[in-house]
Amino acid sequence: MENRDRYNNLFLIGFSGSGKSSVGKLLARKLKFNFLDTDKKIEANLNMKISEIITRRGENYFRKIETECLNEINYDSKMVISTGGGIPTIKENLKIMNHYGIMIWLNSTIKTIIKRLEESKEIRPLLGEKINENELSSLYEQREKYYQLAKFSIKTDNKSLNTLAEEIKNKLCEIKT
Ligand code: S3P
Repeated sequence: MENRDRYNNLFLIGFSGSGKSSVGKLLARKLKFNFLDTDKKIEANLNMKISEIITRRGENYFRKIETECLNEINYDSKMVISTGGGIPTIKENLKIMNHYGIMIWLNSTIKTIIKRLEESKEIRPLLGEKINENELSSLYEQREKYYQLAKFSIKTDNKSLNTLAEEIKNKLCEIKT
């Protein structure tokens, strides 16, 4: 596969609350790419909420399902794919993402993440119902080294969705030429 083709599949990676789904949808619209959210695809496939899957079947089971989900995607069309925050921590997932596309890290500070998670109604079972700053910081630190494997990163703090999508678009033009 020519290196250039990998730009047809853009995987947005980053911690919960970094805006992967919202930015991903807008970016896909701007690029005229399809959009897919791995959490949403898993919920539809299993007809269960992610929180239910993790609490009933455990995190390891969920991680297997995430890898299956990445393997099931049809990468022939151009796509923006928003990924669950833990996806890049699994070697096989990194292999799949780097084979079919490039990873883009939405890099948010802990402060921004906490603010967004507190505003969100979604239950994140690995973070608990009430956000604990110490626990979140510790998970964030463990995750950072994986997020740093992205082709490039975009700082998200205090930026609108439109600015973020435009920044990614511009960066893609820059590195492709
Ligand atoms: C997870 C993040 C969640 C979801 C699951 C596990 C994680 O997705 O996949 O609750 O391990 O960080 P978001 O990053 O969209 O919140």
